[in-house]
Amino acid sequence: MEKRTSFSSKFGMLAAAVGSAVGLGNIWKFPYEAGANGGGAFLVVYLICVLVLGFPALITELSIGRMAKTNSLDACGKVSGRKGWNFIGYMGVFSAFMVMCFYFVVAGWSLEYICQTFASSTFRDMDASSLETLFNTFAYSSRRPYLWLILFIIATAIIVQLGVQKGIEKGSKILMPMLFLIIVILAIYVIFLPNNTEGYQFYLNFDISKITPSVILSALGQSFFSLSLGLGTILIYGSYMNQGNVVGTSLQIALLDTLIAVFAGFVIFPAVFAYGIAPTEGPSLAFIALPAVFAQMPGGTFVSLMFFSLLTIGALTSTISLLEVLTASFADKFHISRQRSNIIATMLVIIGSCLCCYSLTDGSLFNFCGKPLFSWFEDITSDYLLPLGGMFMAIMLGWAVSKEKLRTAMTDFGMKPWFFSIYLVLVRFVTPTAILLIMLRQSGIL
Ligand code: PFF
Repeated sequence: MEKRTSFSSKFGMLAAAVGSAVGLGNIWKFPYEAGANGGGAFLVVYLICVLVLGFPALITELSIGRMAKTNSLDACGKVSGRKGWNFIGYMGVFSAFMVMCFYFVVAGWSLEYICQTFASSTFRDMDASSLETLFNTFAYSSRRPYLWLILFIIATAIIVQLGVQKGIEKGSKILMPMLFLIIVILAIYVIFLPNNTEGYQFYLNFDISKITPSVILSALGQSFFSLSLGLGTILIYGSYMNQGNVVGTSLQIALLDTLIAVFAGFVIFPAVFAYGIAPTEGPSLAFIALPAVFAQMPGGTFVSLMFFSLLTIGALTSTISLLEVLTASFADKFHISRQRSNIIATMLVIIGSCLCCYSLTDGSLFNFCGKPLFSWFEDITSDYLLPLGGMFMAIMLGWAVSKEKLRTAMTDFGMKPWFFSIYLVLVRFVTPTAILLIMLRQSGIL
């Protein structure tokens, strides 16, 4: 077996983990989830989910990885001393596969939009409805999405093969601040758009009556998806972490990821309302609303190019972490080289993503109960599998590991004794109960 690598610095580890967390989930998924779930109400519930459930779940997952120092399939069994807990890892690998199947489709769309920036002179002279037609024709009835997604998968596979740490560590340190900067510039720009007030009202108006069990479930799912929790990516990065404080690192990941998602909302909603697009548009929202802004903007070609390039890069640092879960797991499990394992994982993901992409076309066979496979995978993973993964990890660490062993490990990883008592309550009681209640309520059992 090849020697286990680790991150070369604390900052490198942070950049890689933030790279995994910040991606399409922040810029593409967060705004349309917020749009479909009541705007401001969703935002508030989302922030609570990040703080009360996401942050401790980050600490838990990072610590399991750091304690286990192995792939995500075997980590929980190793930490608890009982192999039965390895089911969490298997569930995670399966979830990572499902996430990749739809994620690569959207990542491919962002590549197309880099090209569209040039081809259609930054969507000049196009109104919202022609931009909608442009998107629908491309995404739902042409062959190009398949080419783009395969290209994206191959690029991801090459980076995973070349050695993730150096590539991601270096790349993320430069690219993440750039992504942040671009979002801030866009947020400032939309302040000056006419008719944007309704957008701010929609995003910032907190109407408690809009908080329903399904809004809470969506916010919970979105927070886990956005923080890359529950399927083993943070765990595997934790296993490459030899230094640094798990609490500080988790806090930084949660803060940076949330800031970018919140800012994406400040860009999209004012723009959406300014151009008369429905905020509940769904997965196509960012690909219709933003081009509408770029079309009006002085220097729109440049900004559009920057934006879709950075969206692509954000997606890439996330797909690398997802493919890494499968590659590391298959290599360890089947005692094969990382290279072989990577090739197998890549082939599987190409097949799955093409099926998801095909499911979006009219009359596709992969449409079940009126919902394409793409949306099934998206909903099942973020609403159920990721939070369940996080819940089981919390139960395992909180109950299957003795309190003293956990205290020693956590203190070694930099947790302060006073915080340990709070963390223990969160991991043992709050996280499992809250996630379970939210799911039971949503499924109608409660
Ligand atoms: N957090 C990523 C995003 O917001 O785009 C998506 C993601 C990456 C989800 C890795 C889960 C994961 F394990």
